[in-house]
Amino acid sequence: YYALVFLLTCIIIHVLTSLINGRSNHKLPPGPYPRPIVGNLFQLGENPHRSLSNLAKIHGPIMTLKLGQVTTIIISSPEMAKEVLQTHDHSLSDRPIPQSLTVLDHAYYGIGFLPNSSPLWRYLRRICNNQLFTNKALDASKFLRQKKLKELVNDVYHSSQTGEAIDIGKAAFKTGINFLSNTIFSIDFAQSINDAGDYKDIVVSILKATGSPNLADFFPLLRFLDPQGIKRSYGICIRKLFVLFDKLIEERLKMREGVNYATNNDMLDALLDISQEEDSKVMDKQQIKHLLHDLFVAGTDTTSYSLEWAMAELIHNPDIMSKAKKEVEEAVGIGNPVTESDIATLPYLQAIIKETLRLHPPAPLLLPRKAKVSVELINGYTIPKGANIMINVFAIGRHQETWENPTLFSPDRFMGTNVDVKGKDFQLTPFGSGRRICPGLPLAMRMLHLMLGTLINTFDWKLENGMKPKEMNMEDVIGGNALRKKDPLRVIPVKII
Ligand code: HEM
Repeated sequence: YYALVFLLTCIIIHVLTSLINGRSNHKLPPGPYPRPIVGNLFQLGENPHRSLSNLAKIHGPIMTLKLGQVTTIIISSPEMAKEVLQTHDHSLSDRPIPQSLTVLDHAYYGIGFLPNSSPLWRYLRRICNNQLFTNKALDASKFLRQKKLKELVNDVYHSSQTGEAIDIGKAAFKTGINFLSNTIFSIDFAQSINDAGDYKDIVVSILKATGSPNLADFFPLLRFLDPQGIKRSYGICIRKLFVLFDKLIEERLKMREGVNYATNNDMLDALLDISQEEDSKVMDKQQIKHLLHDLFVAGTDTTSYSLEWAMAELIHNPDIMSKAKKEVEEAVGIGNPVTESDIATLPYLQAIIKETLRLHPPAPLLLPRKAKVSVELINGYTIPKGANIMINVFAIGRHQETWENPTLFSPDRFMGTNVDVKGKDFQLTPFGSGRRICPGLPLAMRMLHLMLGTLINTFDWKLENGMKPKEMNMEDVIGGNALRKKDPLRVIPVKII
C-alpha cells in the first residue's frame, strides 16, 4: 500500500513539475483560460477586434489564446508590434494557410500566403515593388483613374439633381473596383452602383467567401470536411474569375500581336512584358491570374470602406469638414476634382486619411502571421514555433498610453509631425510593416485622397431625414474582408457651383 502511495505521489510530482517547467521554458504570454476543445474561440464574438482589445486590458499587450486547436498570440501595443513586425520580422512573417485558399493551389501561387522564404514570393514582391506600384507606373495610369473619378462626380451630380441620398460605401465600392480594374486591365468591372455585372459579382462573392470565419481553420482535423462549404463556394468563384481573366489575357495577347499596338500602360501589359522576356519562366498566364486575384481581393473592400469612414467622420465633425474643404478649395479651386499631383499640397487631407485609418483600420488584426521558429521577445515571453500571430492595430490605434484622447477624431494630431502609415511608426500600421507590408499602399493612398478630396470639393453633404451629425451611429462591424460602418452612410449631395 505504502509503495503504491509513494509511486502515485512521484507520478503527480513529476507531472506537475514537467507542466510548470514546460510553461516556464516556453514562457508563453499570459491569456484567458482555454476551454477544452474550443479553447477561447467563443470569446472572440462577432467583433474580434473589440473583444481582443478588452481581453488585452486584462492580460496585457501580448496574450496567448487558443482558437480551437490553434495557439494564437495577440499583440496590442506599439512596442510589441515593433518586436514582431521589425525585430523578428524574418521569423514571424509567414502566414497560416486558410483551408479555402487551397483551391487551385491558390495559396501556393498567390502573393498573400506564400511563405517569406519562397523564391516565388520574393519574386512577386519585387515585381510589385519595382514595377507595378512604383510612382512611375502609377503616374502612367493616373489618367485612367481620373476618368473614373469624373464618373463618380457625374453619378453624385445626378443624385444631387433629384435630391436623392447616395450610399457612399456603394459609390466608393464601384469607383474603387473600377480604379483597380482600370489600373490593371484598362476596363471597368462595375457599370453602375447597383449593377450585377459578372466581374463585380464574382469579386463580391470571393470577398464574402474569404472573409467568412471557417471552422476548418481552427480545427485542422476538419480541413478535409469543409464543414461550412466555404472552400466549395470559393472554388466556384475563383474558377469563374479565372475564366474571365483568361478572356481578358487572350484578348490582350491578340492585340499585342498587332503591328500598331500602343501599350495601355496598365498592369496587365507590364506583366505580359515580363512574361515575354526570354528568361522569365515564372510569370506565365497561370501565375498572372493568381497575382491579379490577390490584388482584387486585397484592394477592394479595404479601400471603399476606408473612404466611407473618412466621409462619415467628416460629416460627423462639421468643423473638420469645413477646414478640409477650405484647404482643398484653396489648393485646387472650388468645384474642381482633385488630381494625384495635388495630394502633396494637401497636408490636412492627408492627416484626415491617417486619422481615419488610425480609428477605423480596414484590416483591424492585419493579416495573420505564423511563426517559422520559436522566438523569444524582449520582455522574455516566447512565441512558439507554428503559432499564429495577430496584430490588433485597432487596439493599438486607441492605445491609451500612446494617443491623447484616443477615441477623438482629430486629424490635427498629425499636423507638423512625421508620423505616417508607411510601416515605420508602430503606433500607426494599418498597412502592416516589414517584409509583408501591403504592396498596394501607394495605390490605395492615391485612390483615397482622390475620392475624398473630390467629393468634398464638389459637393456639400446633408444627412437624410433631418438627422443631426451628432446623432449618427458610428459603430463598426466586420463585413467581408474588412471593418466597415455598421449603418451604411447615406447622404444627400448638394452641388456647390
Ligand atoms: C497585404 C492593408 C489596399 C494588396 C495587406 C496587409 C494589410 C493591408 C494590413 C497585411 C500586411 C502585413 O501582414 O503586415 C491594406 C489597406 C488598404 C489596402 C488598409 C487600403 C486602405 C490594398 C490595395 C492592394 C493591396 C489597393 C492592391 C491593389 C495587398 C496584397 C497584400 C496586402 C497583395 C499581401 C502581401 C503579402 O502577403 O506579401 N494589406 N491594403 N492592398 N495588400 Fe493591402
